[in-house]
Amino acid sequence: MTSVLVFGSGIAGLTCALHAVRHRMDVVLVTKAAADQGATRYAQGGIAGVVFPEDHVEAHIADTLAAGAGLCDERAVRVLVTEGPDRIRELVRRGVAFDRDAAGRLRRGLEGAHSFPRILHAGGDATGLAIEQALLRAVREAGVGVLEHASLVDLAVADGAVEGARVLVDGRELALSADAVVLATGGAGQLYARTTSPAVATGDGIAAALRAGAETRHLEFVQFHPTVLAADHDARAAGAFLISEAVRGEGAVLLDERGRRFAHAAHLDGELAPRDVVARAIAATMAAQDGRPVRLDATRLGARTLRTRFPSIDAALRERGLDWASEPVPVAPAAHYFMGGVRTDLWGRTTVAGLYAVGETAATGAHGANRLASNSLLEGAVFGARAAAAIARGRAATPVAMGDPTAHPPAPAPAAASADRGAPFSRVALQRLMWQDVGLLRDAAGLDRAARTIAAWRRTRAEGAAVPEREDGNLLLVAEAVVAAARARRTSVGAHFRRDAPAAARAARGRAVPARPVPSPA
Ligand code: SIN
Repeated sequence: MTSVLVFGSGIAGLTCALHAVRHRMDVVLVTKAAADQGATRYAQGGIAGVVFPEDHVEAHIADTLAAGAGLCDERAVRVLVTEGPDRIRELVRRGVAFDRDAAGRLRRGLEGAHSFPRILHAGGDATGLAIEQALLRAVREAGVGVLEHASLVDLAVADGAVEGARVLVDGRELALSADAVVLATGGAGQLYARTTSPAVATGDGIAAALRAGAETRHLEFVQFHPTVLAADHDARAAGAFLISEAVRGEGAVLLDERGRRFAHAAHLDGELAPRDVVARAIAATMAAQDGRPVRLDATRLGARTLRTRFPSIDAALRERGLDWASEPVPVAPAAHYFMGGVRTDLWGRTTVAGLYAVGETAATGAHGANRLASNSLLEGAVFGARAAAAIARGRAATPVAMGDPTAHPPAPAPAAASADRGAPFSRVALQRLMWQDVGLLRDAAGLDRAARTIAAWRRTRAEGAAVPEREDGNLLLVAEAVVAAARARRTSVGAHFRRDAPAAARAARGRAVPARPVPSPA
């Protein structure tokens, strides 16, 4: 019987495990916290899919490609969009109660850069939680072994093929062998001072894949969500509080501190433009008002709609003493999602035999330079199922040979500068550095500074065996790879915006209005 180790317990890992069971494989799912603590449970907006008769797969494909700013792999997008509806139906069968109207019809949500309201949601704004709970229930009913509070230390590689992994449980290392290992550990949002990602998002899978020699791609494309609550402007360990794009989809607007709308100056679709465009428009507006956050004005939706359509957000804001039905709330961008990751083919296979990656850990090419809203849960479900099917067909043995046609030659390593020496490593210092120099707006000087500082920290930091120290090592390794990718891509595209080369970003989007210089974020 084929044995599979799945690392990560979000939608991608859980779907992969369930499909592996269906393919009669022996599966163990390993997760470093409690099984429900990944990013999936925090997904608010919903899951996009062509499930309404007036919608069309070609429209969803076109929206995904346009949002991706020309860098999506169209084959991956086609797989995502055409197989998505089956995976959504599967979620319904597993008990996810997507919201319906009084007549029992599925409710339709709209988010940025979608030409059709095709987003299904559950519990109003608790879609991820509903999915996480249903899949976890299914995994337990299917008898999948779930090893919680077990961190991935490293992959076991012999003769170029992955044969298992070492994990840390209760301070002791265990060796687990398997025919295939699937990485579904999410992204590395904890690289940034302000992020919607939970504390567990420390890039463990991407780092382990890098150490095993797997290829990564598109790591320079980090999505910053435009509307993250900025009442408590500092980062919080458990993630800054997201205010779903679905709120703008229902009609909320963005205002500067003088109460003027500004999003249409950046893009004809205004508040519903692709996410990277809206996030930069907010950053520019904040810079023009000395770094103070902009406002999300949802008052026109009324207290009743806000409470029923967005019950979790409504409750969270009220807990913080904010009444969004009567006044706009402060928002600012925060790191939200890694479009890049471990390079895979359309079956989740990486460039290392026996190693698979799915969900946010993977770079299938489906998101290009900027992910379309609510395509992430869909990707986890579609490619999680595909990886299980590929392993079942015995594809694990064959590594994938790939190269990146969009990659540029790496920039030469920057010379050490005395100004960068001496800043001691800490996770907070790394998060600040990434926020400042490898954030929404980048340039050569900042990227070079980040590269030098990270290289110095990697040389001088003492390795530790405890989980937080291993996580720090993973974050540093992923940071190094993100910075290298960002330095190598010398033009602006999608979420990778270089102040020193903004021209390509203007050309990439049909509906963008002529760009103006973007000032630095505060
Ligand atoms: C949101 O609800 O705004 C986030 C959804 C997503 O990341 O696609």
